This record gives sequence, C-alpha cells and structure tokens, in this order.
Amino acid sequence: HHQLKAFPENFFWGGSTSAYQVEGAWNEDGKGPSVIDMANHVEGVTDFKVTSDHYHMFKEDVALMAEMGFKAYRFSIAWTRIYPQGAGEVNQKGIAFYRSLIDELFKYGIEPIVTMYHFDLPYALEERGGWSNRETIDAFEQYAKTLFENFGDRVKYWLTINEQNMLILHPGSIGTLDTSLENPQKVLYQQNHHMLVAQARAMVLCHDMLPDAKIGPAPNIGVIYPASSKPEDTLAADNYAAIRNWLYLDMAVFGRYNHIAWSYLIEKGYDPVIEEGDMEILAKGNPDFIAFNYYTSQTVGESLDDGNDFSHTGDQHEIVGEPGAYRGSVNPNLQKTEFGWEIDPVGFRSTLRQIYSRYHLPLIVTENGLGAFDKLEEGDVVNDPYRIDFFKKHIEQIQLAITDGVEVFGFCPWSAIDLVSTHQGSSKRYGFIYVDREEFDLKDLRRIRKQSFYWYQKLIATNGEIR
Ligand code: BG6
Repeated sequence: HHQLKAFPENFFWGGSTSAYQVEGAWNEDGKGPSVIDMANHVEGVTDFKVTSDHYHMFKEDVALMAEMGFKAYRFSIAWTRIYPQGAGEVNQKGIAFYRSLIDELFKYGIEPIVTMYHFDLPYALEERGGWSNRETIDAFEQYAKTLFENFGDRVKYWLTINEQNMLILHPGSIGTLDTSLENPQKVLYQQNHHMLVAQARAMVLCHDMLPDAKIGPAPNIGVIYPASSKPEDTLAADNYAAIRNWLYLDMAVFGRYNHIAWSYLIEKGYDPVIEEGDMEILAKGNPDFIAFNYYTSQTVGESLDDGNDFSHTGDQHEIVGEPGAYRGSVNPNLQKTEFGWEIDPVGFRSTLRQIYSRYHLPLIVTENGLGAFDKLEEGDVVNDPYRIDFFKKHIEQIQLAITDGVEVFGFCPWSAIDLVSTHQGSSKRYGFIYVDREEFDLKDLRRIRKQSFYWYQKLIATNGEIR
C-alpha cells in the first residue's frame, strides 16, 4: 500500500439541504406554490408545509453548522420565493431571506454553494406546461439572472439543476410525473432537452455576468456494474451508464448528446425536437466543475425481452428496466440500508475515477448519506453509529480516489440537518442534527446534536485525518 494523499487544504467539508425539504414556510412572505406544494402527498407520510422550519430557525441551524466546523453549506434557493409566479415580478422578501442566510454563513466563514433549482418548479409554470413549454427555459434564464444580480457579489459556487437525471428517470418518486401521459418518456426527454438548454444558458450568463464565479451541473451519478461477466451484461451496463449518467454530463461538458444514449432515444422514439440554435448554446455553455450526488452503485443485466424487464417501484434508487436495453438487477455483494438502498463505498471511488477520467474537471460531492429511523433517547441522546460507519467508509474512498489523482474539492453530505425525504417522510432521517418532530406531530422542532455531529466535528477539525 502506498502512502495516501492528504485532503487538500481548504477542502469544502460541509453538508447539504434543499429548500422545499428543510425550510417550511411554504406560503409565507409572498412565496408562490411549487409543483411540490401542489402535489398530492404520498399517503402515510408528512407534507412539505413545515418540514424542519429552517426558514424561521436558520440562525440557530447555521450556528450548529459552524460548531461542527462546516467550511461550506450547500443549499437551494426556492425559485418560488424569488418569482412566486415563476416569472414576472420579483418578490423582495425572498431576496431578503437568502441575503440574511448568506450573511449568517459569512459570519462564520462558511462558503455558500447554491443550487438554483432542486425539484421545486413554480406551479404557475407547470400550469403552462412546465418543462414541456420552451417559455420555462426563458423563465429559468431570467431567474438565473436575478440570482446572479442579487447574490453574485457573494456566492462564488453555483449549481444549476439538482439531479436532472432523477427528474427524468424517476419523476414519480419526486411527485412530478403527469400520470395521464400516454407516452411519458417521449415527453420527459423533450423536457430533458429543454432543461439542458436552460442549464447551458445559465452557465453562459454566469460567465458573462460573474467572471469570478464558478458554475456546474449536479446530477446523481453512480457506477453501473454488469450483473455478470457475460458480454451482453456489459453491453447492458454501458447502455444504462449512458442513459443514466453520461447523457447529462456529456451534454453539460461537451455540449453534445452521448451517442449511445442518442441511439437509444432514436430506437425508442423518445428523441426530442431540437430547435435551431439549441446545439450552439449547448456547445457554448461550459461548467467549471462537476458536482454530483452519490448514494449507491447500480447493477444491470441484459434485457431478456420476456416482459419482466420493466419494473417501476417508484423509488429513485430502483432501476426502471428498458426492454431491449437493460434490466435492473441486485448486487449480491452489497449490504442494504433500512430503506433497502445498497451500500457501496468502493463504488464511490470507481464513480469518482470514472467522472474524472471522462471530463478532467474538479469534482465536488454535493450529496451522499444514509437514511435511517434515528431514535431520540433519554437525555437528548441520538446514537447513530451506522451513519458514522457509512461516512467513514465513504470518506476513506474519497481519499483513495484523491490518491489516484482525482481532483476533489469538497464533500457536502446529505444532510446537514434532518429534513423531509422526497417521498418517505420525516422519519427517514439523514442529518447530523436531529429535529425533534414526528411524522404528523411537530412537537417543538428542537435541534439535538447526534453522535455523528461530534464525530464529523472531529473529522473536519483534522481535515479528514481522524475518522
Ligand atoms: C437525492 C435528492 O436524490 O436524494 C434529495 O437530491 C433527496 O432531494 C436525497 O432527499 C435522498 O433521497 P430520499 O428519497 O431518501 O429523500
């Protein structure tokens, strides 16, 4: 074993959240409704009206992040606080809220890393067709301009769209699928194309307006294994990797459709209409870094076309198979979380290597983490050794990847503080900070430091050396 390289100085140790999952105050201070606010909530789990009430408690939350030693905080701005109707009038109270949040972060020297759009499309835009309507591209560009004008003096790291690939592959789990559609994939890939154009325009605008700022995409990326060494399974893994991962990053970085993904779109009849000028703007928009979320790897096998390839459980980490392209498979080598997600730290190293080998851009991990039913014990104690173990193993793999020569500049796991999961409620917890509430009982929303809080604090203090 050769010597491990140290984490770089000024590495962004931090944590992540998203506006609709942590803020609450869903209709306060002029905020308009988003698609999430208007969706029918999944039965048996909480809604997104109050969540962790970070909107009112952010000062206390940021103080706790500072106590942990955070160097960076990755959060999202709710489009509907800035433009309640998606476009048109700016809501100054929305601007003021994020100014105060950024002020608070600066007080402790915490770098803001801002996601512009994390699943919460303004409902007013959705009513006019959402991402199917090209007007949404203009609205996103206008929104981006407003963000750059108002926060560009202090925000140096921008993320365009969170997990665009999950929005396309698992819209059901995020609550944004129109179930009345006859050929949903065709529509989704048209929306996908529009989002890619919107992202490219935002990247161009960012570079024009803010020469010192950096911007990048934030998809969910994970290595794809073939179910066996059968050559057909490797082909299937290539197909799925192209459709799930590279389509998004190849477009962001190279400005072109990945050829394997494109041949799949053509074969299925899902290929989008590309308007004049689209490919030019897609080529012009370039990221400065790649942010990505990693929870687990995935395993696929050859499509057997026997009617069993297509399975949809609604969970964003289940694979929706595609007849003729690939079928989902389980990995017998991996253990699972309480929620059935496979745990694969070594796959994290492979993922880091693969992304860096393809694009040679600096990487930042904007999500990684373990959802569990944490328990609040007597005397305000929350023991979560399973989470510590999960992070130890994943952080070790980052260091190995750094030793392999991969440029990584930050780790912002999910989540800084407990919040509401996309479709599994508030009892599926991810945070270093416990929020005292139950699924349907808001209790006092008190913040309690978990065992992992103290562990992460020590890890950050030693720049990742003491795990
Ligand atoms: C990512 C999302 O997909 O995974 C987050 O960006 C999400 O918004 C996280 O919360 C964990 O997933 P879930 O479904 O457990 O909330």
